[in-house]
Amino acid sequence: MNKFLLAPSIIAADFSRIAEETAAVESAGADWIHVDVMDGHFVPTITVGPLFVESLRRVCKLPLDVHLMISEPEKHIESFAKAGADNITVHAETCPDLPRIIEKIKTLGCAAGVTLNPATPVSAIDSALPLVDLVLVMSVVPGFSGQKFMPETIGKAEEIRATLNALRSSARLEVDGGINAETLPLMQRAGADVFVAGNAVFKHPQGSGAGARALKDIALS
Ligand code: DX5
Ligand code: ZN
Repeated sequence: MNKFLLAPSIIAADFSRIAEETAAVESAGADWIHVDVMDGHFVPTITVGPLFVESLRRVCKLPLDVHLMISEPEKHIESFAKAGADNITVHAETCPDLPRIIEKIKTLGCAAGVTLNPATPVSAIDSALPLVDLVLVMSVVPGFSGQKFMPETIGKAEEIRATLNALRSSARLEVDGGINAETLPLMQRAGADVFVAGNAVFKHPQGSGAGARALKDIALS
């Protein structure tokens, strides 16, 4: 299994050039494309839905890592799976029955992920940890890209990594929010192996490819 993966978040990309943007990060070594789905209800912003994922699937070969920041995700996972999502990650705050929705995501043929806001305790995902393929630790309050990394989430990543190890889980530990050249190593040491980056990649002064390359080189150093 590839040790460290980079998942640029398209929320910070130029949607009018999405094919070029994703091609640039792919050729620079990006491993996944992180798709931030926001409904304007669970989080204040509205972004994209299954129709966008369907179009992105046609122009991008990388695995699509769909992060659902939406209320009642159970109503929508099938349409994201059909649209071509490879991973579907749901927020513990939106799922009263995590094991059930995780099994449903797997039945649809996608890798199942769980995520939690910085203020949500790890205990909220205890029931999911033995079942998931992926845990996404939010290092910002979800809803916007370009926010400042919250260092208090480092301990949470360490705690989840320790629990996954104790469970002998092969689940990946992904971190999301404010990841850049300075914060990536902090979370790498905490046990993360997948790094989401929006602004650090797609708003890089030398372009998206340079942004992706710079982070990928750090992750592998
Ligand atoms: C925040 C999203 C993150 C964020 C990443 O709600 O889940 O994926 O947009 O963007 P940066 O890396 O700029 O914080
Ligand atoms: Zn995200």
